[in-house]
Amino acid sequence: MNTSMPDLAVTGSTGVLGRLVAGLVANAAVPQRLLVRTPAKAPQLPGATVHPFSYEDREASVLALAGAATLFMVSAPESEGRLGQHRSFIDAASDAGVRHVVYTSFLGAAPDATFTLAREHHATEEYIKSSGMDWTFLRDSLYIDFMDALVGDDGVIRGPAGSGRAAIVARADIAAVAAAVVLNPEAHRNASYDLTGPESLRMEDVASILSASRGSTVTFHDETLPEAYASREKWGAPDWQVDAWVSTYTAIASGELAAVTGNVEMITGRRPVSLAEFLAGKVG
Ligand SMILES: NC(=O)c1ccc[n+]([C@@H]2O[C@H](COP(=O)([O-])OP(=O)(O)OC[C@H]3O[C@@H](n4cnc5c(N)ncnc54)[C@H](OP(=O)(O)O)[C@@H]3O)[C@@H](O)[C@H]2O)c1
Repeated sequence: MNTSMPDLAVTGSTGVLGRLVAGLVANAAVPQRLLVRTPAKAPQLPGATVHPFSYEDREASVLALAGAATLFMVSAPESEGRLGQHRSFIDAASDAGVRHVVYTSFLGAAPDATFTLAREHHATEEYIKSSGMDWTFLRDSLYIDFMDALVGDDGVIRGPAGSGRAAIVARADIAAVAAAVVLNPEAHRNASYDLTGPESLRMEDVASILSASRGSTVTFHDETLPEAYASREKWGAPDWQVDAWVSTYTAIASGELAAVTGNVEMITGRRPVSLAEFLAGKVG
């Protein structure tokens, strides 16, 4: 056992969300282990030790986690093998004696969720529960941060979202929740939190807020399903990936992402930012 090592382990600190969480933990003067694939990319933070690993490398993961009590696990980037990576890492955490896993899941995670990747998040949640470790699931809505990237070169957002709404949320607000949870895990033991922004927007609303921010017109085109698949063909992506892209929009159309919750404010004490505030640089 690495008894002299920090109790808290944080993954993803070379990416956006994990880096924010690690920064908040360091600001709270709490020691942490940063589990990273490339140590040279790890943020330099007071009280942080750096440990090489990857989700799929069970041996390195067990070594990096030995003696850790709490683990912040950022979901791996979308890939066909993501669930397998998650399961391998969860097995390693359990073997290493981790007591509590805080996992970034997705709003409406369920076996029959419209958004195909929310089904993987559900399977990951179930796997963590079956491990016997304590858990907290942060069920993130769609990230506000990516709305601008949905706009095509022609100023059009295309997708079969109809007039459905999504309660999009900023990554900085998710990070603030995650930091609060990992710094006081006992208060959030075996809890699932639906994490949303302050308002629920139609894609038409997103387009008009982006128009105001850019100073140029952005519109939303409500594609039919065949149109959605046809317009994404040019990327040559595998079926699972295209299904994930298209089902982001059909999930909005279904209403599964519409509900606004007060969980960000309840946990952080701060109102989450809106899309307009985020675009104006007020990121928490
Ligand atoms: N709610 C949403 O709208 C939404 C949208 C997109 C993504 N997400 C999810 O949110 C997660 C965090 O978002 P983000 O913006 O922080 O992503 P990001 O900036 O791409 O960071 C991903 C992090 O995961 C690490 N990583 C990737 N593959 C790994 C592996 N096999 N083993 C160990 N670590 C690995 C990366 O390490 P390297 O630096 O070594 O690559 C990086 O630190 C994403 O990974 C994704 O699952 C949610």
